[in-house]
Amino acid sequence: MPGATDATAPVSCRICDGDVEEFLDLGRQPLSDRFPAPDDEGEEFFYRLGVGRCRTCTMVQLTEEVPRHLMFHEDYPYHSSGSSVMREHFAKAAQRFLATELTGPDPFVVEVGCNDGIMLGTIQAAGVRHLGFEPSTGVAEVARSKGMRIRTDFFEAATAMEVRAAEGPADVIYAANTMCHIPYLESVLKGADALLTPDGVFVFEDPYLGDIVAKNSFDQIYDEHFYLFSAGSVRAMAERFGFELVDVERLPVHGGEVRYTLARGGARTPTAAVGRLLADERDRKVTDLASLRAFTADVHKIRDDLVALLERLRAEGRRVVGYGATAKSATVTNFCGIGPDLVSFVCDTTPSKQNRLTPGRHIPVRPAAAFSDPYPDYALLFAWNHAEEIIAKEQEFQQSGGRWIRYVPEVHVT
Ligand code: SAM
Ligand code: TMP
Ligand code: ZN
Repeated sequence: MPGATDATAPVSCRICDGDVEEFLDLGRQPLSDRFPAPDDEGEEFFYRLGVGRCRTCTMVQLTEEVPRHLMFHEDYPYHSSGSSVMREHFAKAAQRFLATELTGPDPFVVEVGCNDGIMLGTIQAAGVRHLGFEPSTGVAEVARSKGMRIRTDFFEAATAMEVRAAEGPADVIYAANTMCHIPYLESVLKGADALLTPDGVFVFEDPYLGDIVAKNSFDQIYDEHFYLFSAGSVRAMAERFGFELVDVERLPVHGGEVRYTLARGGARTPTAAVGRLLADERDRKVTDLASLRAFTADVHKIRDDLVALLERLRAEGRRVVGYGATAKSATVTNFCGIGPDLVSFVCDTTPSKQNRLTPGRHIPVRPAAAFSDPYPDYALLFAWNHAEEIIAKEQEFQQSGGRWIRYVPEVHVT
């Protein structure tokens, strides 16, 4: 089996080299964002999805690393601009930078993982100097074709230093839903140190461990999400590499995220929000092994309840389809053993996922229009992080008697 590891082998923390204790085994998993074509005869890549916590710095991380070129390549199917809520979210983020950090004579912002340009579009429209790093050439080309400046490369120490030499220092480095994808963060932070002005900031936002544990959203764990950050673990990482955590902001997107702001050690005064979130994490024991093991027990209950529900609906002759072929759904379908016998297809708005099969379990992916043709009895909401947007636009489904199946924080039908 390609990518297999020995579950008993000790694992060292990718940040501090401490011992990582595994608390959750989500089993054999495929690449979450590789959707094979029905006639694809190539063998899928599988690895073991284990999650552990570092005893020293508390960073929660995967215990096996998938090579980056297998995940981020010309066919990377995730197009950020597919969600109107996210378009608005990133327009606001860009406007905030324009009003605060990018007010000097010739400001410069670098985005790590800019994807199809969902955030940089606003920066470009304001005429501000920018550069997007995007190794996945397909989505990078979408941004480039809209006129944004894109470097088709991984951001790391060497590439960041090249940009510094060629273009001068950056006032802001921004990364959304990308830092948690990068196991080699020491190299990234060295690059940030080389590239930023003395008072520059590195701002990044990613799914928050505190929300994942509170909501039992175990499907936030998959190959690309190598780290599940908390304020405590990010602060320890920042200090280790010469930075300081100077601000945090909780965000409602993607099921609950935190936006972290790092500055060079001593360059800025941390806001009160940092102390508050650290205290809250201590009170809630967010990174205690006992809390993480309780989360594991909840995840096993969700699996058992979801499979029992889907098997009952099948026995009753009900038609169930999936809504949103999210990367997250790879974890759910493969961990729970959900295939086309339980969910007949998954509808999705992303053209590059359509008419393909879901990773590992090979459920057909159909265009969004298939959802109402005719409506199923039940829809399993894999894209639960976009629930508000989806349920609002699919009111007719419920009016016609259809029901939503959700599985976070527990299995329920609405
Ligand atoms: N920022 C967008 C958003 O929030 O919607 C895209 C997030 S997407 C989940 C992660 C992106 O990071 C992918 O487009 C991937 O190609 C890119 N990526 C992965 N490793 C990277 C690295 N080292 N440097 C720059 N981009 C990277
Ligand atoms: P995400 O959870 O990683 O943002 O992925 C969302 C997936 O769900 C993506 O493949 C697009 C799909 N989607 C729909 O099919 N319909 C929708 O209305 C929305 C918001 C997303
Ligand atoms: Zn560590």
